[in-house]
Amino acid sequence: MGQLPAIAWLTGLSGAGKSTIADAVDRALTESGRHTMVLDGDNLRLGLNRDLGFTATDRSENIRRAAETARLMGEAGLVTIVSLISPFRAERQAARAIAGDIPFVEVFIDTPLDVCEARDPKGLYDRARAGAIPNFTGVSAPYEAPTGPDLTLLTDGLTIDASAAPLIEVLLHLSAASPNS
Ligand code: ADX
Repeated sequence: MGQLPAIAWLTGLSGAGKSTIADAVDRALTESGRHTMVLDGDNLRLGLNRDLGFTATDRSENIRRAAETARLMGEAGLVTIVSLISPFRAERQAARAIAGDIPFVEVFIDTPLDVCEARDPKGLYDRARAGAIPNFTGVSAPYEAPTGPDLTLLTDGLTIDASAAPLIEVLLHLSAASPNS
């Protein structure tokens, strides 16, 4: 493919901007001639993971399957951008282990809860506060923010391009074919 594989693992609250950044990064890499794949929680839950809910056990399985899929994509040479709340540190660590020797970049989409709630693009926080959605991350289920992410992206008050730019740079660098290959 003329590139090296990599996995970018985007973690953050619902409404933090993970999918938006994943799409912007995907577009920029494609424009630079890279072969990419986006694995997004909402989409995976329509098919591959449609049997899973939001208990801790189900989230853990959701993350495991996404990580195994990202690894397969990586073995096929793709740059894979995974966008999942992935609220638990241990599961994100497990995802990194599954990636094996494929470079794995943990990216914290660091948007504060009050900003996510104010955005509430899907109206989910309102419903969660009203008690209509159990185990809602940030409201009635925990989110363990990364303590040592490889990259932190801020979104509040920034354009999408400005938020995404540092990750685009990292992935272009990681996926650049080595001169000898
Ligand atoms: S994860 O925790 O297992 O990584 P994932 O990223 O796949 O979550 O799915 C999160 C999306 O599912 C949210 O963006 C939201 O649209 C929807 N959702 C539905 N119920 C919940 C819930 N209880 N907690 C968080 N997100 C939920």
